[in-house]
Amino acid sequence: MPIVKYQGREINVVSGTNLKKALKKTGLSPYNSASRFLNCKGIGTCGTCAVSIKGKTSVKTSVEKWRLNFPPHNESDGLRLACQVKVLGDISVEKHNGFWGQNIEKTVQRNDSFIHIIQLVFDSLISFIENS
Ligand code: FES
Repeated sequence: MPIVKYQGREINVVSGTNLKKALKKTGLSPYNSASRFLNCKGIGTCGTCAVSIKGKTSVKTSVEKWRLNFPPHNESDGLRLACQVKVLGDISVEKHNGFWGQNIEKTVQRNDSFIHIIQLVFDSLISFIENS
């Protein structure tokens, strides 16, 4: 049985299990902040379940490729959508900061500052709403 490592925990799953469902079943979440409630429920269109994965998984679905190709995501970031991923072997999963989990180190260093500023404003707005 494959093992999923995430946020200090290890979960045993049946090969082929959907990653998002496996995480949620054990009380874990692929979402940050308000995206826990504001998401597409797993149809692959919102991009809020984006994570970094090391290990053997299914290939990207067509909707996953599509969603990871527009802001705040960028295909070169190498993220995956937990709702579209099937676990095929032992994997290690990491969630990055930001509403979509888009703030990987590379994103912060990018020079497409307009998109980065919009992301920061949106993340700040979400934090403000959550803390009000
Ligand atoms: S939950 Fe919306 S893309 Fe995964």
